[in-house]
Amino acid sequence: MDIDLSRGTETPLYRQLQSALSRRIKSGDLKHGSRLPSVRAMAKDLGVSLITVVQAYDALAADGLVHASVGTGTFVGSPTVTPSSDTIARDGGWAEELGETEWQTALPTYLRAPRTASMQSLLRPARRSGIISLTSGSPDPSLFPVRALGRLWHRAMVVDDPRSLQYGTPQGDLHLRAWIATHCSAAGIPSLPDDILITSGVQQAIDLVARTFVGPGDYVLVESPTFLTALDIFDGRGAKLLGVPVDSEGMRVDIAASLVERFRPKLIYSIPTAHNPTGTTMSEGRRRQLADLARQRNLLVLEDDSCSDFTYDGDAPPAVKAFDRGGHVVFIKGFSKTVVPGLRVGGMVAHGPLMTRLTESKSLVDRFTSPMIQGTLWRYLSARQYQRDLETARGVYRRRRDTVLRALGELMPREITWTVPAAGFNLWINLPRSISSAEAFEQALKEGVACGFGDLFLAQAPPPNGLRISFADKPEQILEEGIRRLAAGMRKLLDDELGRSQETDFVTAV
Ligand SMILES: Cc1ncc(COP(=O)(O)O)c(C=O)c1O
Repeated sequence: MDIDLSRGTETPLYRQLQSALSRRIKSGDLKHGSRLPSVRAMAKDLGVSLITVVQAYDALAADGLVHASVGTGTFVGSPTVTPSSDTIARDGGWAEELGETEWQTALPTYLRAPRTASMQSLLRPARRSGIISLTSGSPDPSLFPVRALGRLWHRAMVVDDPRSLQYGTPQGDLHLRAWIATHCSAAGIPSLPDDILITSGVQQAIDLVARTFVGPGDYVLVESPTFLTALDIFDGRGAKLLGVPVDSEGMRVDIAASLVERFRPKLIYSIPTAHNPTGTTMSEGRRRQLADLARQRNLLVLEDDSCSDFTYDGDAPPAVKAFDRGGHVVFIKGFSKTVVPGLRVGGMVAHGPLMTRLTESKSLVDRFTSPMIQGTLWRYLSARQYQRDLETARGVYRRRRDTVLRALGELMPREITWTVPAAGFNLWINLPRSISSAEAFEQALKEGVACGFGDLFLAQAPPPNGLRISFADKPEQILEEGIRRLAAGMRKLLDDELGRSQETDFVTAV
């Protein structure tokens, strides 16, 4: 296809490709229903990486200009709906019109998840047999307390009958809120059940804060790299994202402070413990500074604590919320990593009018989180088994982390460095400037290992170049083999790149 891309400009190649194709679709040059070249063919034709094409196609799909059909390719326009014959009979024939869906491509879409969608597309090849996937930040399902949850689910149903199946309250089950308040108070965050809002996972808590307090054009500061779905959530609100670098002590709060002076952001989103994707833990000094910054500049800090129960080298410092004077920090406690993701429960701690507003938002979004599920989780958290299970899982994950670190130390070329996670499920591979995240991702796939594509975790264009390695859901032999393949891939790239700059942009390294 005849498309001119200019290298060395500020606009990423995938955006240039997206715009070029978008123009052709809108002008009718590319007809509705016509098939775009395969990702591989387009990449070869234009001399760009597969990732560039995947990102461009995903962005076009998010705009409703193309759609992917599994196994057949990417087509211009929306999928054609073919009604079944009984639908036509039932609907008196009007459903025949559904064949013409072209008008749907003209509908504006406000909520998009470009990074989350790109990650899913990029990970499709990782599902091929023989590929070792180090991409999932999920806990290991073999550690799930299946029997206990089944038993307690039944008990919640019988004992709470009929309340467990009735409408619940937006703020959530009082027992569960009391458990979270007690747990938080013991960890230095004085709180009462009234200060807790139960959400459907940490992700919903991030979304509630974003939809309640962030509007179009507001600045939001995030660690860069960070949890990519949070980036999509803030983007979806029309916010302007500003990335703050991370080093071995977590977010560079000094840089955050200067960005606050310049841009007056509404919100700072931070994952101080078990940071996703780098695994770093913020030092106590920086936590104090962050809480002080929020108070002095009257802004909100959203503290995401999805995984601090899995620390491997001693306890993490107190939460940022523990240094909060004046209710500027909203703290979210997750249960997906430490109990199971499938219950979809998180707990948010906020004070004063913030809690009132967040509860109103919760009642608009999904009214309440299932009382059955909250009752089951509360019973499990209150049982002695919970602490035992946590201890067992921590030991398993620590051994997996150690295996990955050992393999990296033995096998990786010296030009590549990585973070040492004190907690959580992830670490970050720092690539030299001469190797892009896309090149490393593709070379690793060729060697038979899939990693998280680093650029998707960034608030703005690279640097730093990197890959995320997630280690929680794989046994040690698989992790070792995965790192062996990754190291082989990186060695090949470095041999090809010999002579290019070997500097890295990320600070934390072994
Ligand atoms: C930092 C971070 N926050 C939030 C989430 C989502 O958590 P939940 O499953 O509770 O919605 C994840 C999941 O990977 C995460 O890594």
